[in-house]
Amino acid sequence: MQVALKIWRYDSTTGERALRDYEIDAPDEATLLDCLDIVKDKHDGSLAYRKSCRMMICGSCGMRMDGAAVLACKTRMYDIAQEGRVPVISAMGNLPIVRDLVVDMDSFWGKFKAMKPYLQPGFDVPEDGREYRISQERMNVIHKEALCINCGCCVSECNAMESDPEFLGPQALAKGMRFVGDPRDAATVERLEEYSGPHGIWECTRCFFCNERCPKGVDPRDAIAKLGAEAIQHGIDRDMGAKHAKWFIRSTETTGWLRETELVPKTQGVVSSIKQMKFAMGLIKHNKAGLAFPPHVARDVGEARNLRKLVREQDRQGALGHVQGERALARLAHGHSGDESLEDIYARQGAYAQPYLPGEGSAGGQGSLTQADVTPGQEPTKKPGGGA
Ligand code: SF4
Ligand code: SF4
Ligand code: FES
Repeated sequence: MQVALKIWRYDSTTGERALRDYEIDAPDEATLLDCLDIVKDKHDGSLAYRKSCRMMICGSCGMRMDGAAVLACKTRMYDIAQEGRVPVISAMGNLPIVRDLVVDMDSFWGKFKAMKPYLQPGFDVPEDGREYRISQERMNVIHKEALCINCGCCVSECNAMESDPEFLGPQALAKGMRFVGDPRDAATVERLEEYSGPHGIWECTRCFFCNERCPKGVDPRDAIAKLGAEAIQHGIDRDMGAKHAKWFIRSTETTGWLRETELVPKTQGVVSSIKQMKFAMGLIKHNKAGLAFPPHVARDVGEARNLRKLVREQDRQGALGHVQGERALARLAHGHSGDESLEDIYARQGAYAQPYLPGEGSAGGQGSLTQADVTPGQEPTKKPGGGA
């Protein structure tokens, strides 16, 4: 097939930048990475990009295609070439470009290391001296996070990092959740304290671009939501973001809707509220302050209360209460038409996997209980006396 590409070339030593056109002959099964290899081998040996495994596991080949992060070795070119599209290839966002498609990952790895991405000692050693065994349900909470290959595609698209480059970011926080959720780790509280600081959990703007772009189904935004839930469960709620989240729950439980006028005093405190009095007076003047007393109670408030009751009865606290698959829920909100059952919607071509609570597992796909890389059963993999 004939593949046409436009590639942003950049040299950080001279500051030279140019969008170059390439047209190559590639096999039908070629990926974007294969095409870049052909460009480099046959057309322009000066093109710089990273690669290693060519099979979506090393995380080296993250870059942007038409402005959205992709793994080059996962991106097939056949349909694009057939459509006659000429994609624009550029380096990942939110990281300084060194040359062409190669970015400086120092800050990325610095944040990764700051998460202390290894088990902290202090956990109980199993009495029989054998392998530490964890229930499948417990591991399902961090199954998706453990799939991260540190490619940086999520970081490339992160809105919060654009405004605050110090923000820990989706990749580092997903890694943090991988250890917070691991029952063998003995530093849960210390981790949550650290991750809840400035530039941490609560700085995420919930734009969901990281979930959208992650090529491995890690869903880093979900991981950040789990960290937030764990922090609140452990009483680490100093941050305004945590207070905000708590008020959402309290407000919807008591009246069935969000009482925004009380949001400022509840999250920012009295002093800050007084400072914003002028703005509040403006709202009152234009009848937009929603100061009805007693506050308006939604007609179906019972449903919100029942939901809260259910969560309490099932004891789904912290990360265990997080519904996996928020994208699926978001899609549902816009895609439900009349007579279709939920099963019909999830059976649609290209539909997201059905949301599920930890322990239930989805029927298939990332994070499912049937996926090959989830170890089934309870048998230890290491037998006494050695051997696998
Ligand atoms: S959801 Fe949060 S972490 Fe993910 S890309 Fe948006 S701001 Fe960044
Ligand atoms: S969370 Fe996904 S996109 Fe982000 S670094 Fe890990 S694998 Fe890549
Ligand atoms: S080359 Fe390893 S993930 Fe693409």
